[in-house]
Amino acid sequence: MDILQAIKQRRSIHSFTDEEVPLDRLKEIFTYGSYAPTHYMKEPWQIKLYQEQGKAPFVNKIIESYQRIGMLKTTDDAKTVKMVDSMKNFLLHIPHHALIYYTKEADQVRVEEESAAVSAFIQNAQLAGWELGVGMLWTITPFMHDPGFVQAIGLDEEQHKIAAVLQIGYPKHVPRNKGRTPIEQKLEIIKGDSPPSL
Ligand SMILES: Cc1cc2nc3c(=O)[nH]c(=O)nc-3n(C[C@H](O)[C@H](O)[C@H](O)COP(=O)(O)O)c2cc1C
Repeated sequence: MDILQAIKQRRSIHSFTDEEVPLDRLKEIFTYGSYAPTHYMKEPWQIKLYQEQGKAPFVNKIIESYQRIGMLKTTDDAKTVKMVDSMKNFLLHIPHHALIYYTKEADQVRVEEESAAVSAFIQNAQLAGWELGVGMLWTITPFMHDPGFVQAIGLDEEQHKIAAVLQIGYPKHVPRNKGRTPIEQKLEIIKGDSPPSL
């Protein structure tokens, strides 16, 4: 597929088959990701890849975080237990969870640059994955902003910023293309030869 087609045809994948993506394939995909532009060649992206037996403790930490921040109750009533079980089950059935983070510098401009480079890395990886038949969902969810969760996965809230968690696997279902707003609606052309509008 050429890159222009991949850009338009890639879809966020919400449901995956149970099949795992071989590690070499994932490394290949992240390697494509790493050709993202990066100011000062910082290459700020770091990846924690949770899979196989590594998923259960990760998912438990997500549940604990949701309980800590009040998104899930801690009671053992049937409704809560069912909700926790179904959330665990859903997350455990995703073949791979790639948590993407970077080290924050003191300078806010650098933090913005790192965040931008990491986003470019993610999109490159998504497009490479798409080309290779591997689907992803780019997620930003509340547990990523919970200092207790950051600490629980071995990172330091002061130093590290979690950028995203990518859910990865072979697509079970590909959503329809929702299209995009015509770019003319987003584009303001300033040629310098017309009077400024008031
Ligand atoms: C920074 C970012 C965060 C996102 N977070 C979520 C998320 O938490 N949950 C989700 O279902 N989709 C998430 N998405 C995916 C968008 O919902 C998706 O890109 C959008 O619906 C367009 O669909 P498409 O990617 O198939 O074109 C996120 C996308 C971006 C760029």
